[in-house]
Amino acid sequence: MSDFPVSALRSVELSTPDLNGSVDFYTRVWGLEVVAEADGKVFLAASGDDFHVLELKEGERAELRKISFRVRSAEDLADLLDKTMAAGCTVLRTIGDADAPSGGRRFVIREPQGSVLEFVHGDSRKAGTEVENRPTRLAHVNINSADIGALTTFYQEVLGFRLTDRSKLMAFLRCNDDHHAVVLAEAQQNGLNHVAFLVPSLESVMRGSGRIVDAGYPIGWGVGRHGPGDNVFAYFLDPTGVVIEYTAEVLQVDDDYRVKGPSEWVWPPGRTDHWGIAPPKSEACKKAQTAIAFAQ
Ligand SMILES: [Fe+2]
Repeated sequence: MSDFPVSALRSVELSTPDLNGSVDFYTRVWGLEVVAEADGKVFLAASGDDFHVLELKEGERAELRKISFRVRSAEDLADLLDKTMAAGCTVLRTIGDADAPSGGRRFVIREPQGSVLEFVHGDSRKAGTEVENRPTRLAHVNINSADIGALTTFYQEVLGFRLTDRSKLMAFLRCNDDHHAVVLAEAQQNGLNHVAFLVPSLESVMRGSGRIVDAGYPIGWGVGRHGPGDNVFAYFLDPTGVVIEYTAEVLQVDDDYRVKGPSEWVWPPGRTDHWGIAPPKSEACKKAQTAIAFAQ
């Protein structure tokens, strides 16, 4: 049995040049709920048991400020801090009480390729439920990397993730039974590729997508079914240009899962998903997937 010190991807923090507009989009359109406001940040929850899944903060431009992972124990938290320091990460906040209203103990580092990662243990949870057509929790973050080999090794050897698949351009990494919580994408520059939110069902991807389209935000890619992870997807751009995804039916795996490599993840000509009915990804979506930097 795999022994993961990181138990889940919990939340991401984004900056936005229009805080009110982003909060309006993520509540009224995307289906999250404001649960707290503190220190100029707005905390938004999905319907599952995480206190929040998204933090928004006003800034000059849209950027990824941090990714927060939940850690299994206080011992693992201390151990991860030691390991990340030994791996050359910069400590931004050492172990102490969390800044977010969700509480718990945390530390924050910047890994060598520039993303800010927070590790939290003992954060408060709420009674969670699934609500059709609304996000339940985060599903994965997809990070652009100019050195995907080094970052894959960092996630595996320092953070204890396991590789589940490697396509030509992407590495899929898990920290629990979900096929992936983190995806690394080969890119010219490091940054955020997209953030995926789990919805309860394929029907929820379809109906949720209809609500987003009705609100004036066209589908950037999809609806389709991914190769690695077998999840259904629909991609959108939020009002600030961050690519966000509704996804469902993520493959559940255990240690018997056979890791497949680039030669096995090849689509027949003209296809980019299992179904073969998704129109090509929009140019706007492609561009946005390389446009969001890590906040400095
Ligand atoms: Fe994705």
